[in-house]
Amino acid sequence: MKKMKLISTLLLTGLFLVSCGGDKKDNAASETKTEAVKTENLDPMLDKGVGPITRIEIGALDQALADKGKAIFAAKCTACHKIEKKYIGPALQGITKKQSPEWIMNMILNPENMLANNATAKALLAEFNAPMANQNLTQDEARAVYEYFRTQE
Ligand code: HEC
Repeated sequence: MKKMKLISTLLLTGLFLVSCGGDKKDNAASETKTEAVKTENLDPMLDKGVGPITRIEIGALDQALADKGKAIFAAKCTACHKIEKKYIGPALQGITKKQSPEWIMNMILNPENMLANNATAKALLAEFNAPMANQNLTQDEARAVYEYFRTQE
């Protein structure tokens, strides 16, 4: 008699599935983001613009000068500008925090050249679709208007 003994062996195989696919960090995406940071976009407070004013020292507020500037502004600028609201031109409240004193005075004294050659001025022209007018202020008058702007922050 032949006894066949069948031995069944059940082998339970544990399969360890090693998942190694989740490591694909989005390196490519973060590199792209870094590159997207605008290289041409300098701090506007460092942009002095183009024109006769290359460097100006600003000290403590001179209220008498600001008052003079206020009168000049009322006579020569309010046809197009309001301090608090945009009009023909931009609102000018807080302008001394946005642009350097040189840039602002060059915009007043030399707008044609600024609109032709300064990136920020060009962008404003495109936005407002009207040119900033040269009101033929003297440098002293433009400085007084700047002082007035300092009181309108
Ligand atoms: C005939 C209209 C007109 C008159 C008058 C005018 N401006 Fe402007 N101004 C504009 C316009 C429009 C812009 C914006 C578009 C551009 O630059 O062309 C502008 C822009 C400016 C800016 C830049 C504003 C910003 O947001 O950066 C300053 C500063 C400024 N003017 C000051 C003055 C002063 C000061 C006077 C008076 C001496 C004056 N403007 C008179 C039309 C005028």
